[in-house]
Amino acid sequence: MSLEYDHIPVMLEEVNQILHPYEKGLYIDCTFGAGGYTKNILKNKEVSVISIDRDENIKIFSKEILKKNSNRFKLIIDKFSNLEEILKKETNPPTAIIFDLGVSSLQIDNPERGFSYKNHGLLKMTMGNNNINAFDIVNKCSQERLRDIFWFFGEEREANLIAKLIVQKREDKEIETTKELAEIILRAKRYKNKQSKKDCCAKVFQAIRMVVNQELTEIYKGLISAINVLSKNGKIIVVTFHSIEDKLVKKIFDYFSNQKKGVSRYLPESENKKNSNIIKLINKKVLIPSKKELEKNNRSRSAKLRSVIKINDINFKIDRSFLNFEKFFEIEENCYA
Ligand SMILES: C[S@@+](CC[C@H](N)C(=O)[O-])C[C@H]1O[C@@H](n2cnc3c(N)ncnc32)[C@H](O)[C@@H]1O
Repeated sequence: MSLEYDHIPVMLEEVNQILHPYEKGLYIDCTFGAGGYTKNILKNKEVSVISIDRDENIKIFSKEILKKNSNRFKLIIDKFSNLEEILKKETNPPTAIIFDLGVSSLQIDNPERGFSYKNHGLLKMTMGNNNINAFDIVNKCSQERLRDIFWFFGEEREANLIAKLIVQKREDKEIETTKELAEIILRAKRYKNKQSKKDCCAKVFQAIRMVVNQELTEIYKGLISAINVLSKNGKIIVVTFHSIEDKLVKKIFDYFSNQKKGVSRYLPESENKKNSNIIKLINKKVLIPSKKELEKNNRSRSAKLRSVIKINDINFKIDRSFLNFEKFFEIEENCYA
């Protein structure tokens, strides 16, 4: 991987506005990537940063940063769902925690990582620290499971037919490459409509990637931990890139703020009430990239930013079912069932 990689961090101006004036303290960049946010935060001399990424390959981007900031920067290769464990030895709670979700262009553009239908590579789609890969899902899940993955995670209308064609193909030989999978999707879609090749494959590839990396489970665990460990008056910023992850983030933030739309049936009224007073939305409406940013970086076009401030530092009990995401979590946690 080259250090010459031309990386433009998404919605950096908005992140800076929310964090301004940068209070001194500990900042957590939960998705280090090429280090865009981390470098920006470290420009403020009174802060320290712990950055997390599940992908070992990004270590190369931390070297320069470490050289210049060895006493106030640390990179941890781990999943952000382990945030509480990672911060266990820290004496002070974080001032801000940032998530820039999803895959990086570095990952998606590398054919060897097998993420994209645009490149020819072995089916992998692992960001790092995974138990399964895309080959396992495509070749081992039942037809019903494949249909559910494409339907729920990809909102793919042809989920049924694509799942059926995959299982038929598997009877001859295993499906090994991104190209083989893309060909099956194209066959299924050709019967129904004239969408471009790009649109045809994007939803199914996204769905498989999300399950391989348990992306929604990670968001749930990461955000609950972040709300828990954050200091009072601390801020959480989340940038999402597609509607399902944004919906999950919104539901979690709404539940723990006074925007709460639903309550848990399994918790007493007093717990539900307490939970709705832990954070406050900073931007009530979701933020999207400015025209100026879109002109410079078209890849930011689907980004959405939500942010909250912690207003009460109290212990809370949670019951995940309040989110109505159980079907997604169940598939991610046990995809061969
Ligand atoms: C969109 S990129 C972040 C780019 C970064 N903000 C920058 O400016 O360079 C997302 C990164 O988050 C990492 N990531 C995604 N899910 C993760 C998780 N659950 N735990 C830790 N890292 C994760 C990916 O490996 C990827 O490197």
